[in-house]
Amino acid sequence: MKSQDIRKAYLQFFESKEHLIVPSAPIVLKDDPTLMFNNSGMAQFKEYFLGNATPKSNRIADTQKCLRVSGKHNDLEDVGFDTYHHTMFEMLGNWSFGDYFKKEAIPWAWEFLTEVLKLDKDRLYVSVFEGNEAENVPFDQDAFDIWKQFVSEDRIILGNKKDNFWEMGDQGPCGPCSEIHIDLRPDAERAAVSGFSLVNADHPQVVEIWNNVFMEFNRKADGSLEKLPAQHVDTGMGFERLCMAMQNVTSNYDTDVFTPLIEKVEQITGLKYTSNEVKNISEEQNKINIAIRVIVDHVRAVAFAIADGQLPSNNGAGYVIRRILRRAIRYGFTFLNTKEPFIYQLVEVLANQMGEFFPEIKKQQTLVTNVIREEEASFLRTLEQGLQLLENVVAETKGTEVSGVKAFELYDTFGFPKDLTALILKEKGMSFNEAEFEASMQEQKSRSRAASEVSTDDWKILVEGNVESFVGYDQTENEVKITRIRKVDSKKDGVLYQIVLDATPFYPEGGGQVGDKGVLVSANETIEIIDTKKENNLILHFAKKLPENISASFVAKVNTDLRTATSKNHSATHLMHQALRSVLGTHVEQKGSLVNPKNLRFDFSHFSKVTDEELQQVEDFVNARIQEQLPLIERRSIPIQQALEEGAMALFGEKYGDNVRAIKFGDSMELCGGIHVNNTADIWSFKIVSEGAVAAGIRRVEAITGEGVRQFFASQEELLGEIKSVLKNPQDTVKAVVSLQDENAKLKKQVEALLKEKAKNMKGELAQELQEVNGVQFLAKQVDLDPSGAKDLVHELGSNKENLFVVLATVNEDKPMLTCYISKELVAEKNLNAGQVVRELGKFIQGGGGGQPFFATAGGKNAAGIPEALAKAVEFVK
Ligand code: ALA
Repeated sequence: MKSQDIRKAYLQFFESKEHLIVPSAPIVLKDDPTLMFNNSGMAQFKEYFLGNATPKSNRIADTQKCLRVSGKHNDLEDVGFDTYHHTMFEMLGNWSFGDYFKKEAIPWAWEFLTEVLKLDKDRLYVSVFEGNEAENVPFDQDAFDIWKQFVSEDRIILGNKKDNFWEMGDQGPCGPCSEIHIDLRPDAERAAVSGFSLVNADHPQVVEIWNNVFMEFNRKADGSLEKLPAQHVDTGMGFERLCMAMQNVTSNYDTDVFTPLIEKVEQITGLKYTSNEVKNISEEQNKINIAIRVIVDHVRAVAFAIADGQLPSNNGAGYVIRRILRRAIRYGFTFLNTKEPFIYQLVEVLANQMGEFFPEIKKQQTLVTNVIREEEASFLRTLEQGLQLLENVVAETKGTEVSGVKAFELYDTFGFPKDLTALILKEKGMSFNEAEFEASMQEQKSRSRAASEVSTDDWKILVEGNVESFVGYDQTENEVKITRIRKVDSKKDGVLYQIVLDATPFYPEGGGQVGDKGVLVSANETIEIIDTKKENNLILHFAKKLPENISASFVAKVNTDLRTATSKNHSATHLMHQALRSVLGTHVEQKGSLVNPKNLRFDFSHFSKVTDEELQQVEDFVNARIQEQLPLIERRSIPIQQALEEGAMALFGEKYGDNVRAIKFGDSMELCGGIHVNNTADIWSFKIVSEGAVAAGIRRVEAITGEGVRQFFASQEELLGEIKSVLKNPQDTVKAVVSLQDENAKLKKQVEALLKEKAKNMKGELAQELQEVNGVQFLAKQVDLDPSGAKDLVHELGSNKENLFVVLATVNEDKPMLTCYISKELVAEKNLNAGQVVRELGKFIQGGGGGQPFFATAGGKNAAGIPEALAKAVEFVK
């Protein structure tokens, strides 16, 4: 079966078991500060397990794009070296939210694998949880008994907490699990050694394909388990591994998920990949294979992350993506000899292969390609610079071992990979000190770990149930009760409290708009709310302290000054989005946005600089919409399909529900949860203040509205006023400045001519003043010239006289400078050195410098030291 058909078969099977089939969530998470990327199928459903939200069906199935490259589940370092781990992979999953449990999930898994896909039962093994006394969780007798209906006991492995108790992270929903493993070894090998003993033993051909988790517990902050209110099923099957089993190969990379990408790499590099069936390959070939696996794996992760809105960058999720791409680039650089960008060429193959099921990759193919190409080019330049730096380090090294600290510096500040450093040094018969490198690495890791340490308490629940609502579209004040509180202690922010209210007017950060600030006021006290954010469907109000009486009634009051300023910027963002598409073209797509009370920032796809004329057109377009006084048309809940048909703009990488909120001003219509003005006239005015590049094919525009524009023009006016007054209020300011410039240029020329003249005269004077000391024509004197005049002067003197030793001091804008000239014959015969002279004498003027033995200069800070410096000069010739 082709991979496409395997995916379809899975979804159809669970559809027939009354599951709702949903699309994969974006790979990048927006609403969950505890997780950067979707690392499993269940991540997008976490809120359902926790009871913070209700699913639209209690049976759901999908295939989820997952990334396991950070946090608890991180496979990055294995990728490429083995044949069955990936950065990005698809996880086929079926879920029960408080509906079916083990006695349905297990038989269905068995039915799908053995009857639909017809996998050989003889090759399958299953595992169940053996129990754990410390956790007070018993042996999973139920799962064991159910499995016994399908397999003999000698195919059931009892697994420990590490293998058979699944947890998403350090806290949150979890439970015992039952895995299905497949033995893909040849018959002879299977006859010799039983697969049973190879389960969970890192054997590349005896691998886990499906995990069925029976979610019953919640792991609390103190490490203890509590029962969840209901029992759930969470399953995950590795799609690429399933394809391996179905396509009779022994490596994921030999399935049709990867072969088209591998063929493209072969075509570009002229090198060959050998399939896993070829045995006894050379060391050289093995390295090529690893590099190719790394590249075809990583390009998928990077391409899908970019398509879902995560550009490579220098922090957070963007940095993880950048590092994955750089890992691929350096494997190519080192082992495939690719010194030019090439990975971007794989995007086309990927889009053709996956575009039908994941349209985002096809639709954004050009952008993804451009971003990857630019990232490659810039990292290859860094690698070149790193090579240069390494050369310098090698030159400074005595012996054959380079300092590990230096190698780490290269790695840390230049992104210069350790294995590449090792390889280059090896070619020179050198190495670096591994232990020192590791020590530096550990030191840095513990520094950054300490900096990012966060401890989060369990919620203290004051009001049970899912009682929270958001009333902030209609109100900025509301009478509220606190429903839960939690303490969070982090190195970064110190101790903060998160407060959840029953019905809050506070807007939580989202859709680019910052969270509201404000206060909670009770009869006796006022608590300041410094920020509002969303986490798994809960709205968290951040405060530095808790109220004394948490069960009192409060009035929650949003700071409306900030809120109003923010809403102007948000509505202006929509109008600008529309304007950019109208002026530049419909290829413009939003790639990031920040809306706060002060200004707005908008990133979008566009291939060249936006010209001043285009910016002016955009500005005019938005201001025209403001003048039209377009009323806000807010549709709070309409079916997404209807909104899209009416032309609403949706964003890639955003997760939308079935019903959405749509915001309309005239012809601008966007799906949006943010806060807006009631009429475009409320924006007052709109002004673009900057335009620039963020990445290849992505531009950034910053703009201001309302009071910001008034202040902007007021400060411009003030500036102009100051300029006019400095110019003594001329009739025509521009003319006055231009004539000043002209005059200045003229004067400059005159001064230069005069100085030349002066130097010429001075030459005659100085020649008279030379004294003979020990056979040397000596002079040390302060002259009224600029440094370049002094330089010309001594050289002129030197071209006519022999045995010359001259030190001139000059002062320019309070900065003293010494200029020393020594005739070449003196340098040779008397061992004099101008560099040394200025270094020594420079001390008197608190400065330093250098140059050549016959000519050197030193600049300093203390002009008062000149007489002493000049007085000492004679000692060099004495
Ligand atoms: N959530 C489970 C896993 O990722 C199914 O293995």
